[in-house]
Amino acid sequence: MLGKEAKQRAAAKETASRAPARPDAKKPGTSGAGPKLAGAARYDKIRDLNSGSFGFVQLARDKVTGKKVAIKFIDRGSKVNKHVRNEIINHRNLLHHHVIQFREVYLTPKYLCIVMEFAPGGDMLDYVKRKGGLTEDEARWFFQQLIIGLDYCHKMGVANRDIKLENTLLDDSPWPLLKICDFGYSKHEELNSAPGSRVGTPAYLAPEVIMNTRGSTYDGKTADIWSCGVFLYVMMVGSYPFEKSEDRKKPDKLRRMIQRIVNVDYSIPSWVRMSEDCRDILSKILVKDLKKRLTMDQLQQHRWFRKNLPEGAQDMNKRLQQQGSGLQSVESITKIVDMAKVKEKVKDDDALIDDELANLEDED
Ligand SMILES: Nc1ncnc2c1ncn2[C@@H]1O[C@H](COP(=O)(O)OP(=O)(O)OP(=O)(O)O)[C@@H](O)[C@H]1O
Ligand SMILES: [Mg+2]
Repeated sequence: MLGKEAKQRAAAKETASRAPARPDAKKPGTSGAGPKLAGAARYDKIRDLNSGSFGFVQLARDKVTGKKVAIKFIDRGSKVNKHVRNEIINHRNLLHHHVIQFREVYLTPKYLCIVMEFAPGGDMLDYVKRKGGLTEDEARWFFQQLIIGLDYCHKMGVANRDIKLENTLLDDSPWPLLKICDFGYSKHEELNSAPGSRVGTPAYLAPEVIMNTRGSTYDGKTADIWSCGVFLYVMMVGSYPFEKSEDRKKPDKLRRMIQRIVNVDYSIPSWVRMSEDCRDILSKILVKDLKKRLTMDQLQQHRWFRKNLPEGAQDMNKRLQQQGSGLQSVESITKIVDMAKVKEKVKDDDALIDDELANLEDED
């Protein structure tokens, strides 16, 4: 059940504003008239948002624009792997209502920091848990947005490979807008090698990803569509389609779930109110045979999907926008990510602050 979902929310320690400036910016108090308001100094921490194995995410204010931003802090060193690089490079180009907007990356001695648009409404998992499952109309509203956002990513060449409720965030509109936020396992069809590894979240993995053998590849976009089917099920039912409550205490519960995924063995509990059209679209997404699984286009033509589709939504991806020219180049991002693979030799944070204060005093 969703209540079991492991979500770490420990408070993060370092603040956005405490962190020193980007490596290319001059340190306060050092010689020359370099701008003090650069890199991390541009952001004021407001509060912690979340934390996980990667590091933590904070809410901050951009002092230049006055806008709130979310900053993801990833520990420098071995955690900055090829997934992190793909995450940033693939996310960088995307510009869409249903994708969290990437802003910039910078380094502190301890962290690689990704600055992005802030989504104030929390993630979809919390939303569904709060509501104890959604009505069909509500689930369709979010599903339409998920599909339109993902269709855009696919058209831009990016397969997400980790579509799940936790990776979609909401704004604070009365009918919340959904935004895809996490590109940590993404693959670009031209820039990256073809998907081959079993990455993602077990409950959302497609059969072909599970069964993929070492050395062979699978289609990340088709696998994303399967995950959208799991997403729809979770919104409607409030539990995972291939997880059974009776397995909860069994040591081999993961193996059992994997087996059910491979056999497409799921059912809709009798108490769930779900229309025939909704059952139909679900049964055409959670299909093992890749030739028979709905494609992105077919899915968007399905009667259930088209019902109450907001005006203009169907045409949203006819013109593909991408981020404009003011953005950091791929080369400079790559350079920053490469630097982040190495931990800068620093004393502890407090020593660092002391250094900065000392520099400021020097200036007086
Ligand atoms: N732009 C944002 N606005 C608001 N909250 C965010 C934003 N980005 C991330 N978060 C919060 O941080 C969480 C983790 O972010 P993200 O999914 O990018 O990291 P992750 O590497 O998948 O971490 P984990 O493995 O813990 O899921 C999100 O589920 C969300 O709660
Ligand atoms: Mg995530």
